[in-house]
This record gives sequence, structure tokens and C-alpha cells, in this order.
Amino acid sequence: MKDKILLTGVKPTGTPHLGNLIGAIDPILNFSKTAQKTFVFIADLHALNFVRNKENLKRDTYEIAAIFMALGLDLEKSVLFRQSDIPQVPQIASLLMNVTPKGLMNRAHSYKALVEKNTSAGVDPDDGINMGLYTYPILMAADILAYQADAVPVGKDQKQHLEFTRDIAGSFNHLYGKDLFKLPMPLISEETGIIPGLDGRKMSKSYQNVIPIFCDEKTLQKSIMKIKTDCKLPNEPKDPDSSTLIQLYTCFATAEQTRQMRHLFETGGIGYGDAKKMLFDVMNQKLTSPREKYTDLIHHPAQIDAVLEEGARKARPIAQQTLEMMRRVMIG
Ligand code: ADP
Ligand code: TRP
Repeated sequence: MKDKILLTGVKPTGTPHLGNLIGAIDPILNFSKTAQKTFVFIADLHALNFVRNKENLKRDTYEIAAIFMALGLDLEKSVLFRQSDIPQVPQIASLLMNVTPKGLMNRAHSYKALVEKNTSAGVDPDDGINMGLYTYPILMAADILAYQADAVPVGKDQKQHLEFTRDIAGSFNHLYGKDLFKLPMPLISEETGIIPGLDGRKMSKSYQNVIPIFCDEKTLQKSIMKIKTDCKLPNEPKDPDSSTLIQLYTCFATAEQTRQMRHLFETGGIGYGDAKKMLFDVMNQKLTSPREKYTDLIHHPAQIDAVLEEGARKARPIAQQTLEMMRRVMIG
């Protein structure tokens, strides 16, 4: 990873939760430790196909930026910025449209899912689908190709978008000259799996079962107390593999602590109430210090603005170079 350029985008569509932290943010931070350079941006343009409230967009943008800053993204070798601060990216997307087959967009999972939903509801197949959503993968290809990224840490759900980016870059190279664009690789971290929410289903904003990353200590405690368990008594053996508590505990505790907790479950050595207290302790221990940094940043948005502006100042000339290369080979 040493000589690799890493890039990823995070959509500002609601307060990030522990599922996002473990499944997306932590892997980005880990990969970025060994990369030559990392670009992390808040994909506000991508959110526009359904976020209609600019205040929410702004709040979520600050929250994501503050989370990365509080969790220690190394700003010496990483560039943190807002997608919409780089006007070259939508221009690149607009040029890429011309080498992107429409059929590729028709095959996008998220578009197809909406078409299927409309069809089974008996309404027009494209009902409620705007062009921002339809062309979403082209804007994402522009994000990635603008900075000639080698590798893109993403969740499994984004794998197809990376395949599209490679297809679009390949089509451009085929038409205008080989090796103009690098073909980026997805970096999908498999180990974490799906983090369960308070009700045991996948933690997701859409299920309202989330624990926000930096909620205050009281809220964290209350949320943990709400995690659904079965009715087993403290001295009854419990199955660690099907327990949401154990799954979350594993993400925050040491291997030895996890081994001990699993043993207590299997032997009926602990009740759910005490297990929840221990879960709170390990979580809170990890989150307390970054939470303090985060709270400070959120109350001083000018500090976040300064970092995002500095990031945009570094990112813009790189995207400009890509745009100029495209103009040169496409327009002359
Ligand atoms: P949500 O389901 O809350 O809307 P997003 O779709 O915005 O979450 O998720 C952004 C990224 O966070 C995903 O690509 C995925 O990698 C990660 N992620 C989200 N929820 C979870 C989860 N419960 N467990 C693990 N990773 C998750
Ligand atoms: N589509 C990604 C998501 O929904 C966000 C995103 C936008 C992105 N542009 C990107 C991710 C470029 C990686 C690279 O989560």
C-alpha cells in the first residue's frame, strides 16, 4: 500500500453510527496509515438526488468531517475535503458521460431496485427516479478518476460502482489512448461483517436502530440497555454466536476480554444486564477521548471549515490536471 493513492467518499445523509464506524470509517483510517496519500471527501453532490434540505446537508457534512478529524485522520498525508468544492469533478463527469454506455446505468443495482419496486407497485417504472440517481455511478467514477486513485476502500454495497468506474476508465482509454486513466481497485474489508443494531437487525439509519458514534455517555448507556436480548436468566448458558452484545463487544474489547466474555456466556456465568455494563465500559473507554475532540470541533465549525478549505485547495489542482488531460485528448 506504500506507494498507493487511496480515495473514498462518504455521503452526508444522517448522523454516522457504529455500523458506519466499524464497517467503513475504521477500515479507511487503517488503510490510510500505510498508503502514500489518502483522499477522503464528503460526497455532498451525491446526496443531492434525495436530500432536499441544505441545513441537514451542512450539518451532516460537518459531522462527518469532525468524525474523521476526531478519530485522527492524519492531515499531513491525507486530504479531507467537500466534493462540491471541486467544480472540476462534475465537469469530468460530464465528459465521462460520452464514453459511458446507457446500458451500464440500466444495470446499476440501486436503480434496478427502484424500477422493480415501481413495477410491482404498478406505477411507471421510472416514477420518482431523477437523473442524479440514474447517473450517480458516473459522478462516482469522476470522483475516483479525477485523482487517479489506485485503491478505493468501500463497503460491499459499492462494489458494482467500482466495476463501473473501471469499465468507464477502460472505455476512455480504449477510445483516447491507453493508460490515460488507472483502473482503480476496490478495497473491501470483509472481516467486520454486518454490525447489528438495537433490534438485532443490521444497524442502519433506515431501521432507526442505530447508536450514533459520538452520542453523549448517558445516551450511549441508555442505548446499550435497549439492545434486544432473549429471556435467558443470568445462570443459564447463552449462545455467544447469536448475540448482538457479543458482536459489538468483539469490536471494542481486546481478544482476551472477548474470549473471557464468550466463556461467561457459554457457562451461564453472566446475566445480560452485567454484560451490557461491560459492553458500555469497553465502548466508552475507546470513544471518550475522540468524543471530546469531536464535541469541541462541532462547536467550532470554523475549525472544520479551515480543514475542508485546505483540503479543497490541495485537491483542486489535481482534478484540474485530469480535466485538462481529458480536454486535450477529447477536444484538442
Ligand atoms: P445506512 O444503512 O445507515 O444508511 P450507509 O448505507 O450510509 O448506512 O452506509 C455507509 C457505509 O457504512 C456502507 O458502505 C457500509 O460499508 C457501512 N455500514 C453501514 N451499516 C453497517 C453495518 N450495520 N455494519 C457494517 N457496516 C455498515
Ligand atoms: N457512493 C458512495 C456511498 O454511497 C459514496 C461515494 C461517492 C464514494 N463517491 C465515491 C465512495 C467515490 C468511494 C469513492 O457510500
